[in-house]
Amino acid sequence: MKTMFTMLTAACSTGSRTTADLSWWTVKGSEHRPEGSWSGNQTGALMKVVTVGRGRIGGGLAGIWSKAGHEVITLGRDGGDGSAADVVLIAVPGSAIAAALANVTGIAGKVTIDATNAYGQRSAPFASQAHEIKSIIGGPTAKSFNTNWAVIYDQIGQQRVRPSNLFAADPDARQVTEQLIVDAGFDPVYVGDLEHARMLEDHLPLIQAVASAGLGPFFYRMAGPGQL
Ligand SMILES: NC(=O)c1ccc[n+]([C@@H]2O[C@H](COP(=O)([O-])OP(=O)(O)OC[C@H]3O[C@@H](n4cnc5c(N)ncnc54)[C@H](OP(=O)(O)O)[C@@H]3O)[C@@H](O)[C@H]2O)c1
Repeated sequence: MKTMFTMLTAACSTGSRTTADLSWWTVKGSEHRPEGSWSGNQTGALMKVVTVGRGRIGGGLAGIWSKAGHEVITLGRDGGDGSAADVVLIAVPGSAIAAALANVTGIAGKVTIDATNAYGQRSAPFASQAHEIKSIIGGPTAKSFNTNWAVIYDQIGQQRVRPSNLFAADPDARQVTEQLIVDAGFDPVYVGDLEHARMLEDHLPLIQAVASAGLGPFFYRMAGPGQL
């Protein structure tokens, strides 16, 4: 099996900023960002992330997370070794989940974030693509990043408030997923446990309709009164 790695180390452009400078940037916060101040800092423990898929989503998040200080290894369709991972991101076409994971070693039981969307036919026995992934990897699993556009990742930090990111998660995957959502520049919005993953996948036609109707790729924000 051919193994390809792309190591994206913490080539931070964060200057002298420290995590303490981000007191306005709490995990659940809705604070306004000081204009133009976001430079991609992590907000908790540094993690080793392996992305299965290194395209728009996998490669895009790898760049953001490595800038925030995390160590990221990206794997393409040829797979490779994921044993170094604290958390695994799955960002391949939904129809390629089983094939892609068959080429990745060392990830059994790892915390996993599924960013895939479903186009066309699904793998019949599974309640959602997140469940399909969990049946293969077997660790605590979350569904996130599938309702956010990769093509505007480069504009996340320019927004007046942090855009929302809807996610569902097993209890043991929730904290890590929330941190990586925050470290990508989004505000996590928890929708419930993994039984809600299918709902996030089925949200796709609405997102596409909104974009096609004229808005184009967009951010969204779900916020309580007074937090917009
Ligand atoms: N783009 C978005 O805005 C967006 C938003 C939300 C969710 N998603 C979902 O996220 C997933 C990834 O989307 P993307 O836009 O990042 O896709 P992409 O740019 O086309 O990248 C796909 C990645 O998957 C890998 N891969 C592994 N096995 C594959 C196979 N059998 N066939 C094709 N590719 C395979 C590719 O490997 P190589 O590098 O070796 O080609 C590539 O790294 C999809 O499920 C998509 O629906 C995308």
